[in-house]
Amino acid sequence: MRLDRFLSQNSDFSMSDTRLLIAQQRVLLDGAAAQSIQQAVTRFTRVELDGVCLQDVQPVYLALNKPRGVVSATKDGKYPTVLDLVRHPRKDELHIAGRLDFNTTGLILLTNDGAWSRRISLPERQLPKTYEVSVSRPLNEGYVAAFRAGIFFAYEGVTTLPARLELLSAYTARLTLVEGKYHQVKRMFGYFQNKVLSLHRVSVGPVALGTLEPGSIRPVGAGELAAISRL
Ligand code: URA
Repeated sequence: MRLDRFLSQNSDFSMSDTRLLIAQQRVLLDGAAAQSIQQAVTRFTRVELDGVCLQDVQPVYLALNKPRGVVSATKDGKYPTVLDLVRHPRKDELHIAGRLDFNTTGLILLTNDGAWSRRISLPERQLPKTYEVSVSRPLNEGYVAAFRAGIFFAYEGVTTLPARLELLSAYTARLTLVEGKYHQVKRMFGYFQNKVLSLHRVSVGPVALGTLEPGSIRPVGAGELAAISRL
């Protein structure tokens, strides 16, 4: 939103008063004197007028290690949700950036920054997501080639983008996808009638789960946030 509109909506001044307020250096945006009525005010811009704070919302970015049997939702009548695991003063503002299935474990990102979660979910951004998978039937190089070439999903009539599969053992692999279709990993192995027994997300772009314990949460670091915005 433009600064003049923000001030008219959040103070007793009108839009036409804003120019004068700025000239008199009475408006601070993130601690610096505002320069123009057209300056953008986002949800996370700290806005002060005559030393009174009109808006001060801190953006929150959290990484969570989702355990099995937890729903990727903010509310559920039956099962615990990822939000039930969060202890944070801004918990009620948070939403999930990229869901995992009920039995999938691993990295989930939570934020109150809708623009950020939209940006990282944009298909054209092709943010790589890496999973460790175990399956019920032995794997072979045929899977590697097929996943690289793309698997046709008849329901949507689309072919998956090239994915990187690294075989770790006869029944386990590491898979990196740059998209997130519904049940994508299970359906890719399902193409070979191979059932996914466990699925664990270890990273989303530059954010890695590392040693975070199941059910634990840590803030996404400044370096990780910077790496995401550089993508
Ligand atoms: N693919 C799946 O099939 N399930 C997930 O939870 C994530 C990716």
